[in-house]
Amino acid sequence: MRIDVNAGRVDQVRGAVPVYAALESERRPETLLPASALRDPGLMSVVSRSGFRGAANETLLLPRRQGWALIVGLGKADGLTLDRVRQFAATAARALRRNGFKSMALPVLGGRGFASAEDVARALVEGALLGLYRYDRFRKLPKHEAGRKIDTITLVTDTRTREAAIRSAAARARTVAEAVALARDLITGPSNFVTPSHLASQAKAIARRHRIGCTVLPFGRLKRMGFGGLVGVAQGSAHPAQFIVLDYRPPRAKSTFVFCGKGITFDTGGINLKPSAKMEQMKYDMSGAAAVLATLQAAAALRVPHRVVGVIAATENMPSGTAQKPGDILKTLSGKTVEVLNTDAEGRLVLTDCLHYAKRYRPDCVIDLATLTGACIIALGSEAIGLMTTHDRLAERITAAGESTHERVWRLPMWDEYGELMKSDIADLKNVSNTGEAGTITAAKFLEAFAEGLPWAHLDIAGTAWTERDKPYVPKGAVGVGVRLLVELLERWT
Ligand code: BES
Ligand code: ZN
Ligand code: ZN
Repeated sequence: MRIDVNAGRVDQVRGAVPVYAALESERRPETLLPASALRDPGLMSVVSRSGFRGAANETLLLPRRQGWALIVGLGKADGLTLDRVRQFAATAARALRRNGFKSMALPVLGGRGFASAEDVARALVEGALLGLYRYDRFRKLPKHEAGRKIDTITLVTDTRTREAAIRSAAARARTVAEAVALARDLITGPSNFVTPSHLASQAKAIARRHRIGCTVLPFGRLKRMGFGGLVGVAQGSAHPAQFIVLDYRPPRAKSTFVFCGKGITFDTGGINLKPSAKMEQMKYDMSGAAAVLATLQAAAALRVPHRVVGVIAATENMPSGTAQKPGDILKTLSGKTVEVLNTDAEGRLVLTDCLHYAKRYRPDCVIDLATLTGACIIALGSEAIGLMTTHDRLAERITAAGESTHERVWRLPMWDEYGELMKSDIADLKNVSNTGEAGTITAAKFLEAFAEGLPWAHLDIAGTAWTERDKPYVPKGAVGVGVRLLVELLERWT
């Protein structure tokens, strides 16, 4: 994909379909479209007769004297946000690809004072690239899609002054979008292909490309070294577990971050087997790990000024003759013991070892990402990531990054009373409560016991990592949630 930046007008880009933005309910299109479009009476009359209203993501493809033009609705002027700009670009890109076009010119919308030209450029590139994402690893493209590919996006500004800044914003956006695509590829990949060792080899490939540190501890070493949480879950699987560490360490790093990812490449539930309806979706139970790998790739590519360590526990959760059983007691890396009352609450078990391992870096911030609880989907649905932390300043920073990326988080309480439910009679903790109440929070309270002394936050992405509904810049399936959020957090951190 080629991404160019030009000064001028969208209808002056050779070979590209110009895209116009239209705002809703500004009665006539004259007031919506840029002056250059107004000089085309043919275009104007078709737009006004078409019934096009400018509602968000409404499209109108029009023939012109030479070529075509695409008009895309932005929705109402008040409440115009960068997220609508992302959607605008994604809708335009997908509509043009569907119609077989190869090149498009997007206006760097401005003038309404809702964002800088750089931020708009970033949103346009992110939106277009994320919207065009497809997973074609295991299929021949059907006829109507074969060969349909946008190969050039030109951002067009009406001022020459900001061109350099817009160019670098666009390059940054591309890096981030490519990282999100990596996460989506790993999540969409089926569990017979994306195995724990596949995740390890992906980590090594990232490390090689970006010259960052990578350590992989294979199953045998995990057993010897006392990674009891991960080993307990992994012992039922024929695919050996992998503990993966990626370490991006720039000279004179300002702060140190550790991002922990739940990497269950398939969650059958184990001996507490899940029902079969939709079980195939449980390949996405490594979405936290995917987000961590992708964030490390982006952080290294963008050369953020902080040390960033990714820690991933990768394994399947399988029932078998060697699998752990309800009632088993594990000794985790921290030394704390856990009574496994439900083998399907496995994410928290593998994360105990990640969180304990994080302590060796004396980090300024530790965040774990996990598709941890079905209860989070009930509580927050697919619009918000569950955020749990006792660290108010960290909560604020994550919340702000969530607003600006539209990967929004919602904080849940971490009162001590919830933690009482996780005490076992015969071990230090049990992995599920008896009541089943507040399942998302009790899971976080369990994790908290292993994050002692760390400036730590937990993100439950069970509801946000996968979408059943197609959205403009999130085609249905794997979302790749968390990558843009963490990158934003890193870039804003001072
Ligand atoms: N991976 C699941 C959580 C999940 C469920 C993610 C649905 C995405 C969609 C997790 O390992 C799990 O099974 N959690 C149990 C915990 C329970 C046994 C306390 C759950 O949520 O049912
Ligand atoms: Zn489970
Ligand atoms: Zn799980």
